[in-house]
Amino acid sequence: MSASLDPTQRLLRACRGEPVDRPPVWLMRQAGRYLPEYRALRAGIPFLAMCRDVERAVEVSLQPVSAVGTEAVIFFSDIFVPVAGMGVALEFAPGPVIADPIRRTAQVEALALADPRETVPYVFEILRRLRAELEPRRLPLLGFAGAPFTLACYLVRGKGDPERRYEEPRALMRDDPALMRALLERLAEMTIGYLNAQIEAGAQAVQLFDTWAGLLSETEYREWILPGVRRIAEGLRRDQAPFILFASDAPHLVEVMAESGCDVLSIGASTDIAEAARRVGGRVSLQGNLDPAELARPREHVFARVREIAAAAAPARGHVLNLGHGVTPETPVEGVRAFVEAAKSLAPG
Ligand code: CP3
Repeated sequence: MSASLDPTQRLLRACRGEPVDRPPVWLMRQAGRYLPEYRALRAGIPFLAMCRDVERAVEVSLQPVSAVGTEAVIFFSDIFVPVAGMGVALEFAPGPVIADPIRRTAQVEALALADPRETVPYVFEILRRLRAELEPRRLPLLGFAGAPFTLACYLVRGKGDPERRYEEPRALMRDDPALMRALLERLAEMTIGYLNAQIEAGAQAVQLFDTWAGLLSETEYREWILPGVRRIAEGLRRDQAPFILFASDAPHLVEVMAESGCDVLSIGASTDIAEAARRVGGRVSLQGNLDPAELARPREHVFARVREIAAAAAPARGHVLNLGHGVTPETPVEGVRAFVEAAKSLAPG
Protein backbone atom coordinates (compact mmCIF):
# COMPACT_ATOMS: atom_id res chain seq x y z
CA MET A 1 0.00 0.00 0.00
CA SER A 2 1.05 3.58 -0.51
CA ALA A 3 0.19 4.64 3.08
CA SER A 4 3.61 3.98 4.59
CA LEU A 5 5.95 5.27 1.93
CA ASP A 6 9.31 6.67 2.91
CA PRO A 7 10.57 9.81 1.10
CA THR A 8 12.74 7.83 -1.33
CA GLN A 9 9.89 5.54 -2.35
CA ARG A 10 7.51 8.50 -2.61
CA LEU A 11 9.82 10.41 -4.96
CA LEU A 12 10.79 7.47 -7.14
CA ARG A 13 7.20 6.28 -7.45
CA ALA A 14 5.92 9.76 -8.32
CA CYS A 15 8.64 10.05 -11.00
CA ARG A 16 7.64 6.73 -12.52
CA GLY A 17 3.90 7.32 -12.32
CA GLU A 18 3.18 4.74 -9.61
CA PRO A 19 0.62 5.39 -6.84
CA VAL A 20 1.70 7.54 -3.88
CA ASP A 21 0.00 8.88 -0.74
CA ARG A 22 0.79 12.53 -1.61
CA PRO A 23 3.26 14.39 -3.83
CA PRO A 24 6.91 14.43 -2.70
CA VAL A 25 8.51 17.88 -2.32
CA TRP A 26 11.90 19.53 -2.89
CA LEU A 27 12.99 22.89 -4.31
CA MET A 28 15.39 23.89 -7.04
CA ARG A 29 18.19 25.98 -5.45
CA GLN A 30 17.11 24.83 -2.01
CA ALA A 31 20.74 25.24 -0.91
CA GLY A 32 21.73 28.84 -1.46
CA ARG A 33 21.97 32.43 -0.41
CA TYR A 34 18.46 32.74 1.12
CA LEU A 35 19.77 30.57 3.99
CA PRO A 36 21.90 32.43 6.57
CA GLU A 37 23.76 29.19 7.31
CA TYR A 38 24.72 28.97 3.62
CA ARG A 39 26.00 32.54 3.57
CA ALA A 40 28.03 31.85 6.72
CA LEU A 41 29.74 28.79 5.24
CA ARG A 42 30.29 30.46 1.86
CA ALA A 43 31.79 33.70 3.30
CA GLY A 44 35.19 34.49 1.79
CA ILE A 45 35.35 31.40 -0.44
CA PRO A 46 35.05 31.63 -4.24
CA PHE A 47 32.05 29.69 -5.54
CA LEU A 48 34.05 27.13 -7.56
CA ALA A 49 36.36 26.49 -4.60
CA MET A 50 33.23 25.79 -2.55
CA CYS A 51 32.06 23.27 -5.19
CA ARG A 52 35.42 21.47 -4.86
CA ASP A 53 35.41 21.51 -1.06
CA VAL A 54 33.84 18.14 -0.24
CA GLU A 55 33.18 18.86 3.46
CA ARG A 56 31.53 22.21 2.81
CA ALA A 57 29.58 21.02 -0.22
CA VAL A 58 28.15 18.09 1.75
CA GLU A 59 27.19 20.37 4.64
CA VAL A 60 25.55 22.94 2.37
CA SER A 61 23.63 20.24 0.50
CA LEU A 62 22.19 19.01 3.81
CA GLN A 63 21.32 22.46 5.24
CA PRO A 64 17.83 22.64 3.69
CA VAL A 65 16.83 19.31 5.32
CA SER A 66 17.14 20.79 8.79
CA ALA A 67 16.34 24.41 7.85
CA VAL A 68 13.14 23.85 5.86
CA GLY A 69 12.39 20.11 6.01
CA THR A 70 12.85 19.33 2.31
CA GLU A 71 12.30 15.67 1.39
CA ALA A 72 15.07 15.24 -1.18
CA VAL A 73 18.64 16.48 -1.42
CA ILE A 74 20.26 17.83 -4.58
CA PHE A 75 24.04 17.90 -4.27
CA PHE A 76 25.66 21.31 -4.08
CA SER A 77 27.54 22.16 -7.26
CA ASP A 78 26.79 23.94 -10.54
CA ILE A 79 26.03 23.01 -14.13
CA PHE A 80 29.39 24.56 -15.15
CA VAL A 81 31.53 22.34 -12.92
CA PRO A 82 31.90 19.54 -15.54
CA VAL A 83 32.44 22.19 -18.25
CA ALA A 84 35.48 23.40 -16.32
CA GLY A 85 36.43 19.71 -16.33
CA MET A 86 36.43 19.84 -20.18
CA GLY A 87 39.17 22.45 -20.01
CA VAL A 88 37.07 25.65 -20.34
CA ALA A 89 38.49 28.52 -18.28
CA LEU A 90 35.64 30.12 -16.33
CA GLU A 91 34.80 31.91 -13.11
CA PHE A 92 31.65 32.92 -11.25
CA ALA A 93 30.67 36.58 -10.77
CA PRO A 94 28.10 35.54 -9.47
CA GLY A 95 26.99 33.68 -12.65
CA PRO A 96 29.42 31.88 -14.99
CA VAL A 97 31.85 34.04 -16.99
CA ILE A 98 33.72 32.27 -19.80
CA ALA A 99 37.26 33.59 -20.39
CA ASP A 100 37.25 32.77 -24.11
CA PRO A 101 33.68 32.47 -25.45
CA ILE A 102 33.27 29.65 -27.98
CA ARG A 103 33.03 30.90 -31.56
CA ARG A 104 35.49 28.72 -33.51
CA THR A 105 35.71 25.05 -34.50
CA ALA A 106 39.13 24.64 -32.87
CA GLN A 107 37.61 25.61 -29.51
CA VAL A 108 34.93 22.92 -29.82
CA GLU A 109 37.51 20.34 -30.81
CA ALA A 110 39.58 21.31 -27.79
CA LEU A 111 36.73 20.43 -25.39
CA ALA A 112 38.07 17.36 -23.60
CA LEU A 113 35.84 14.30 -23.22
CA ALA A 114 37.86 12.80 -20.38
CA ASP A 115 36.39 10.58 -17.65
CA PRO A 116 34.64 12.98 -15.22
CA ARG A 117 35.68 10.69 -12.35
CA GLU A 118 39.21 11.88 -13.14
CA THR A 119 38.57 15.54 -14.06
CA VAL A 120 36.06 16.38 -11.28
CA PRO A 121 36.49 13.53 -8.74
CA TYR A 122 35.17 15.66 -5.87
CA VAL A 123 31.66 15.61 -7.41
CA PHE A 124 31.43 11.87 -6.91
CA GLU A 125 32.98 11.99 -3.46
CA ILE A 126 30.30 14.54 -2.46
CA LEU A 127 27.59 12.22 -3.82
CA ARG A 128 28.97 9.13 -2.07
CA ARG A 129 29.18 10.94 1.27
CA LEU A 130 25.67 12.37 0.89
CA ARG A 131 24.19 9.00 0.00
CA ALA A 132 25.78 7.47 3.10
CA GLU A 133 24.30 10.28 5.25
CA LEU A 134 20.85 10.12 3.66
CA GLU A 135 20.31 6.39 3.27
CA PRO A 136 19.57 5.75 7.00
CA ARG A 137 16.98 8.56 6.86
CA ARG A 138 15.58 7.26 3.57
CA LEU A 139 15.90 10.70 1.96
CA PRO A 140 16.56 10.48 -1.79
CA LEU A 141 19.65 12.01 -3.44
CA LEU A 142 19.34 13.90 -6.70
CA GLY A 143 22.05 14.40 -9.30
CA PHE A 144 21.96 16.98 -12.08
CA ALA A 145 23.59 18.43 -15.15
CA GLY A 146 23.06 21.35 -17.49
CA ALA A 147 21.47 20.57 -20.84
CA PRO A 148 23.64 21.11 -23.93
CA PHE A 149 21.62 24.07 -25.27
CA THR A 150 21.59 25.95 -21.94
CA LEU A 151 25.32 25.35 -21.42
CA ALA A 152 25.93 26.52 -25.01
CA CYS A 153 23.98 29.75 -24.36
CA TYR A 154 26.59 30.75 -21.77
CA LEU A 155 29.60 29.23 -23.55
CA VAL A 156 28.90 31.11 -26.80
CA ARG A 157 27.76 34.41 -25.27
CA GLY A 158 30.40 34.22 -22.56
CA LYS A 159 28.02 35.07 -19.70
CA GLY A 160 24.37 35.25 -18.70
CA ASP A 161 22.01 37.68 -20.46
CA PRO A 162 19.93 39.77 -18.01
CA GLU A 163 17.50 40.42 -20.88
CA ARG A 164 17.26 36.69 -21.56
CA ARG A 165 17.70 37.03 -25.31
CA TYR A 166 20.96 35.14 -25.92
CA GLU A 167 21.47 36.62 -29.39
CA GLU A 168 25.02 35.26 -29.81
CA PRO A 169 24.07 31.55 -29.65
CA ARG A 170 21.04 32.22 -31.83
CA ALA A 171 23.27 34.00 -34.37
CA LEU A 172 25.63 31.02 -34.34
CA MET A 173 22.71 28.67 -35.13
CA ARG A 174 22.05 30.78 -38.25
CA ASP A 175 25.59 31.66 -39.32
CA ASP A 176 27.53 28.48 -38.52
CA PRO A 177 25.03 25.68 -37.85
CA ALA A 178 27.73 23.01 -38.16
CA LEU A 179 29.75 24.61 -35.37
CA MET A 180 26.72 24.95 -33.07
CA ARG A 181 25.74 21.35 -33.79
CA ALA A 182 29.26 20.11 -33.03
CA LEU A 183 29.23 22.02 -29.74
CA LEU A 184 25.83 20.61 -28.72
CA GLU A 185 26.89 17.06 -29.61
CA ARG A 186 30.09 17.32 -27.62
CA LEU A 187 28.21 18.62 -24.59
CA ALA A 188 25.60 15.83 -24.89
CA GLU A 189 28.38 13.26 -25.00
CA MET A 190 29.98 14.68 -21.86
CA THR A 191 26.60 14.85 -20.09
CA ILE A 192 25.80 11.15 -20.56
CA GLY A 193 29.08 10.09 -18.95
CA TYR A 194 28.77 12.70 -16.23
CA LEU A 195 25.22 11.73 -15.20
CA ASN A 196 25.93 8.00 -15.33
CA ALA A 197 28.95 8.55 -13.08
CA GLN A 198 26.63 10.43 -10.67
CA ILE A 199 24.19 7.51 -10.69
CA GLU A 200 27.07 5.12 -10.01
CA ALA A 201 28.12 7.36 -7.08
CA GLY A 202 24.63 7.21 -5.53
CA ALA A 203 22.28 9.67 -7.27
CA GLN A 204 18.77 8.14 -7.24
CA ALA A 205 17.21 10.49 -9.80
CA VAL A 206 18.83 13.01 -12.15
CA GLN A 207 17.61 16.36 -13.41
CA LEU A 208 18.73 17.98 -16.66
CA PHE A 209 18.48 21.79 -16.45
CA ASP A 210 17.53 23.23 -19.84
CA THR A 211 16.67 26.64 -18.39
CA TRP A 212 16.76 28.54 -21.71
CA ALA A 213 15.14 25.94 -24.01
CA GLY A 214 12.02 28.13 -24.14
CA LEU A 215 13.92 30.66 -26.29
CA LEU A 216 13.37 28.30 -29.22
CA SER A 217 10.13 27.65 -31.08
CA GLU A 218 8.81 24.09 -31.16
CA THR A 219 10.22 23.64 -34.69
CA GLU A 220 13.64 24.91 -33.58
CA TYR A 221 13.51 22.69 -30.48
CA ARG A 222 12.95 19.64 -32.70
CA GLU A 223 15.92 20.54 -34.84
CA TRP A 224 18.41 21.79 -32.26
CA ILE A 225 17.61 20.30 -28.87
CA LEU A 226 15.44 17.19 -29.09
CA PRO A 227 18.06 14.88 -30.71
CA GLY A 228 20.61 15.60 -27.95
CA VAL A 229 18.13 15.25 -25.07
CA ARG A 230 16.90 11.98 -26.61
CA ARG A 231 20.45 10.69 -26.80
CA ILE A 232 20.94 11.58 -23.16
CA ALA A 233 17.62 9.90 -22.18
CA GLU A 234 18.67 6.76 -24.05
CA GLY A 235 22.23 6.76 -22.68
CA LEU A 236 21.33 7.06 -19.00
CA ARG A 237 21.01 4.12 -16.59
CA ARG A 238 17.31 4.85 -16.29
CA ASP A 239 16.58 1.56 -14.54
CA GLN A 240 18.60 2.98 -11.64
CA ALA A 241 17.50 6.63 -11.70
CA PRO A 242 14.52 8.37 -13.32
CA PHE A 243 15.25 11.32 -15.61
CA ILE A 244 13.73 14.77 -14.90
CA LEU A 245 13.83 17.39 -17.67
CA PHE A 246 13.47 21.08 -16.74
CA ALA A 247 12.89 24.26 -18.75
CA SER A 248 12.00 27.51 -17.04
CA ASP A 249 9.63 29.29 -19.40
CA ALA A 250 8.45 26.97 -22.13
CA PRO A 251 4.66 26.46 -22.21
CA HIS A 252 4.89 25.99 -25.99
CA LEU A 253 7.32 23.07 -25.59
CA VAL A 254 5.34 20.81 -23.27
CA GLU A 255 4.48 18.22 -25.94
CA VAL A 256 7.83 18.12 -27.67
CA MET A 257 9.76 17.91 -24.38
CA ALA A 258 7.55 14.98 -23.35
CA GLU A 259 8.73 13.23 -26.54
CA SER A 260 12.33 13.28 -25.30
CA GLY A 261 12.03 10.09 -23.27
CA CYS A 262 12.10 11.88 -19.90
CA ASP A 263 10.24 10.36 -16.95
CA VAL A 264 9.34 13.74 -15.44
CA LEU A 265 8.76 17.11 -17.09
CA SER A 266 9.64 19.98 -14.76
CA ILE A 267 7.66 23.04 -15.80
CA GLY A 268 8.04 26.75 -15.16
CA ALA A 269 5.45 29.01 -13.52
CA SER A 270 4.28 30.36 -16.90
CA THR A 271 3.05 26.89 -17.90
CA ASP A 272 -0.48 26.03 -16.77
CA ILE A 273 -0.02 22.78 -14.82
CA ALA A 274 -3.63 21.62 -15.33
CA GLU A 275 -3.20 22.02 -19.07
CA ALA A 276 0.19 20.26 -19.01
CA ALA A 277 -1.42 17.40 -17.06
CA ARG A 278 -4.11 17.14 -19.72
CA ARG A 279 -1.70 17.36 -22.65
CA VAL A 280 1.14 15.06 -21.55
CA GLY A 281 0.34 13.85 -18.04
CA GLY A 282 -0.53 10.34 -19.19
CA ARG A 283 2.96 9.85 -20.61
CA VAL A 284 5.21 11.70 -18.15
CA SER A 285 4.99 12.83 -14.54
CA LEU A 286 5.08 16.57 -13.86
CA GLN A 287 7.23 18.59 -11.50
CA GLY A 288 6.52 22.15 -10.37
CA ASN A 289 5.49 24.82 -10.54
CA LEU A 290 4.97 27.58 -7.92
CA ASP A 291 6.46 30.94 -8.92
CA PRO A 292 9.42 31.44 -6.52
CA ALA A 293 8.24 35.06 -5.99
CA GLU A 294 5.12 33.70 -4.25
CA LEU A 295 7.26 32.36 -1.39
CA ALA A 296 7.40 35.96 -0.14
CA ARG A 297 3.60 35.98 0.31
CA PRO A 298 1.85 35.10 3.62
CA ARG A 299 1.89 31.50 4.81
CA GLU A 300 -1.86 31.03 4.07
CA HIS A 301 -1.29 32.11 0.48
CA VAL A 302 1.52 29.56 0.04
CA PHE A 303 -0.65 26.80 1.56
CA ALA A 304 -3.58 27.68 -0.72
CA ARG A 305 -1.37 27.74 -3.83
CA VAL A 306 0.21 24.37 -2.97
CA ARG A 307 -3.27 22.83 -2.64
CA GLU A 308 -4.30 24.39 -5.96
CA ILE A 309 -1.20 23.18 -7.80
CA ALA A 310 -1.48 19.65 -6.37
CA ALA A 311 -5.16 19.47 -7.37
CA ALA A 312 -4.43 20.81 -10.86
CA ALA A 313 -1.60 18.30 -11.36
CA ALA A 314 -3.54 15.34 -9.93
CA PRO A 315 -4.75 14.05 -13.33
CA ALA A 316 -1.11 13.51 -14.38
CA ARG A 317 0.34 10.04 -13.78
CA GLY A 318 2.61 11.53 -11.10
CA HIS A 319 3.50 14.90 -9.55
CA VAL A 320 6.56 16.17 -7.69
CA LEU A 321 5.94 19.46 -5.88
CA ASN A 322 8.59 22.04 -6.66
CA LEU A 323 8.96 25.63 -7.82
CA GLY A 324 8.86 26.80 -11.42
CA HIS A 325 12.50 27.97 -11.09
CA GLY A 326 15.11 28.20 -8.33
CA VAL A 327 14.69 29.84 -4.92
CA THR A 328 16.03 33.42 -5.16
CA PRO A 329 18.47 34.95 -2.62
CA GLU A 330 15.87 37.42 -1.27
CA THR A 331 13.28 34.70 -0.45
CA PRO A 332 12.25 34.58 3.24
CA VAL A 333 13.20 31.27 4.85
CA GLU A 334 9.67 31.05 6.37
CA GLY A 335 8.20 31.07 2.85
CA VAL A 336 10.30 28.08 1.84
CA ARG A 337 9.39 26.28 5.07
CA ALA A 338 5.70 27.01 4.50
CA PHE A 339 5.94 25.50 1.01
CA VAL A 340 7.41 22.25 2.35
CA GLU A 341 4.93 22.07 5.23
CA ALA A 342 2.02 22.69 2.87
CA ALA A 343 3.16 19.80 0.68
CA LYS A 344 3.50 17.48 3.68
CA SER A 345 0.01 18.41 4.88
CA LEU A 346 -1.69 17.34 1.64
CA ALA A 347 -4.27 14.65 2.23
CA PRO A 348 -3.64 11.23 0.70
CA GLY A 349 -5.39 11.40 -2.64
O1 CP3 B 1 19.59 23.51 -6.82
C1 CP3 B 1 20.51 23.39 -5.98
O2 CP3 B 1 20.40 23.74 -4.79
C2 CP3 B 1 21.77 22.65 -6.42
C3 CP3 B 1 22.87 23.45 -6.85
C4 CP3 B 1 22.74 24.27 -8.14
C5 CP3 B 1 23.35 25.55 -8.28
N1 CP3 B 1 23.18 25.97 -9.56
C6 CP3 B 1 24.07 26.26 -7.21
C7 CP3 B 1 24.42 27.69 -7.39
C8 CP3 B 1 22.16 23.97 -9.36
C9 CP3 B 1 21.32 22.76 -9.75
C10 CP3 B 1 22.44 25.04 -10.25
C11 CP3 B 1 21.98 25.05 -11.65
C12 CP3 B 1 22.32 26.18 -12.53
N2 CP3 B 1 23.45 26.97 -12.49
C13 CP3 B 1 21.55 26.58 -13.64
C14 CP3 B 1 20.25 25.93 -14.10
C15 CP3 B 1 19.09 26.27 -13.24
C16 CP3 B 1 18.71 27.72 -13.20
O3 CP3 B 1 18.80 28.30 -12.10
O4 CP3 B 1 18.31 28.25 -14.23
C17 CP3 B 1 22.19 27.67 -14.24
C18 CP3 B 1 21.70 28.44 -15.44
C19 CP3 B 1 23.39 27.89 -13.50
C20 CP3 B 1 24.43 28.91 -13.76
C21 CP3 B 1 24.58 29.84 -12.62
N3 CP3 B 1 25.21 29.53 -11.44
C22 CP3 B 1 24.13 31.18 -12.53
C23 CP3 B 1 23.39 31.92 -13.64
C24 CP3 B 1 24.50 31.66 -11.28
C25 CP3 B 1 24.35 33.07 -10.73
C26 CP3 B 1 22.98 33.51 -10.51
C27 CP3 B 1 22.38 32.90 -9.26
O5 CP3 B 1 21.24 32.43 -9.35
O6 CP3 B 1 23.01 32.96 -8.21
C28 CP3 B 1 25.15 30.59 -10.58
C29 CP3 B 1 25.71 30.62 -9.22
C30 CP3 B 1 25.15 29.61 -8.26
N4 CP3 B 1 24.89 28.30 -8.53
C31 CP3 B 1 24.84 29.87 -6.88
C32 CP3 B 1 24.39 28.66 -6.34
C33 CP3 B 1 23.98 28.38 -4.92
C34 CP3 B 1 25.05 31.17 -6.15
C35 CP3 B 1 26.50 31.32 -5.86
C36 CP3 B 1 26.81 32.17 -4.68
O7 CP3 B 1 26.79 31.66 -3.54
O8 CP3 B 1 27.14 33.34 -4.92
